[in-house]
Amino acid sequence: MEEREKLLEKIEVLEFELRETVKSFETLTEILLAMSTTENIESMFCRVLSILNIHFRFTQSLFIACEKNEFKVLASSGFDEKIKFKVSKNSESSLAGCVYNLKSFMTVKNMDNDPRFDKNEFFEQSNSVSAIATYLEQDTTLGILIFYLPYEVSKNLHHISNGLDMLLNVLTPHLGQFVSHLKAIKERQVIQMQLMQSGKLASLGKMSAGIAHELNNPLFAIMALAQNIQRKPLGEKTALYAEQIVQCTERMSKVIQHLKVFSRKSDELDFKIIEITTPVTEAIKLFAPQLRQDCIHVTVNFSENIPMLKCKGDLVQLESVFQNLIANSKDAFENITDHREKKIIIEIKSDENQIKIVYCDNAGGMPKEVMEKIYDPFFTTKGVGKGTGLGMNLAYEIIKQHSGKIVVSTVIGEGTTFEIFLPKVD
Ligand SMILES: Nc1ncnc2c1ncn2[C@@H]1O[C@H](COP(=O)(O)OP(=O)(O)OP(=O)(O)O)[C@@H](O)[C@H]1O
Ligand SMILES: [Mg+2]
Repeated sequence: MEEREKLLEKIEVLEFELRETVKSFETLTEILLAMSTTENIESMFCRVLSILNIHFRFTQSLFIACEKNEFKVLASSGFDEKIKFKVSKNSESSLAGCVYNLKSFMTVKNMDNDPRFDKNEFFEQSNSVSAIATYLEQDTTLGILIFYLPYEVSKNLHHISNGLDMLLNVLTPHLGQFVSHLKAIKERQVIQMQLMQSGKLASLGKMSAGIAHELNNPLFAIMALAQNIQRKPLGEKTALYAEQIVQCTERMSKVIQHLKVFSRKSDELDFKIIEITTPVTEAIKLFAPQLRQDCIHVTVNFSENIPMLKCKGDLVQLESVFQNLIANSKDAFENITDHREKKIIIEIKSDENQIKIVYCDNAGGMPKEVMEKIYDPFFTTKGVGKGTGLGMNLAYEIIKQHSGKIVVSTVIGEGTTFEIFLPKVD
């Protein structure tokens, strides 16, 4: 009789385990099915979490991606709103931080009374919750999964966590494969988009080159005619109109120059070996009378070997970069009302591979919003008819075509610095 009872008990346990295993299989199948029909990592984890929530009766769950120095909630289930949560990986007082350091499974009975964690880590109403958290790792780190359940249903937390651990062991390799698969799809899509974009840009480039060419001749004719008119004795109004025509054509010619630079491929530029000081000094020469008039003092600093320094470049284009920098400083000085000594300092340096030109003014700098848009085409803070807002965009494009880089920094109230890097040739 005793033996029979023992046997019955064993059968009962086996039956329970069998039922649990069948349930796990069902859940696993459900998860795999959900995974195969989602197209991005975020929604895949959202679906996985919601299935696990239902299966284990969790109330809420999170998938946290481990990025360079931070954790970021990538998917959540059971929360009212999308959770934005960022915390440094060094944070020891967060559940994610603990699991990250532990790199394994962790169960926490009643998080609120646990001294290891900050109170209310994720949500304000975290009254008496328990949690199970685990670190998912395949070839690369997938992230951290955290599941919450009310404290009163966590009596058999150990049993729940065993079941979850088993399920995740089977699931993790599939999750890993799916994440790589989805990343590959995304990369392919990005490349396809880029190809499409460059195709579009190429035809736009051809079109703008054509337009620039067509516009140039009539424009120069208008400009020459207006200048001819200016040479005649004129009434006050006619002189003003002629002046305005010249100004407008100058403005249009700048836009055309921009179109040309934009549509030109770098192999169409007139690249020659030039001394780096030439475009700088030529640009200063062009502005010398106006700079003198406005009492702006320009200094060029370079060590002895610098004038011999050479780069491969289009002299006219590089000169136009420095012309725009000087014109911008000159315009900015116009807004200065204190009696500061107006200065532009240009330093030319070099290291083994590159030439660095540091252009610096004390013309009062610019606000952050202006600096962020400085390279945008047609962005200008100057009055109507004064600036086209193409100068810095052109400068950026030209330096890029020279395989170089331009970096701006500014201190409001003080001044602006542009650093231009160009490859050096021997
Ligand atoms: N050295 C500087 N100091 C302060 N603000 C500057 C300086 N350089 C550029 N900026 C700001 O950046 C804006 C964009 O400059 P950008 O040279 O592209 O156009 P622009 O000078 O307004 O017009 P354009 O160059 O076509 O005549 C300027 O309107 C100005 O607000
Ligand atoms: Mg300008």
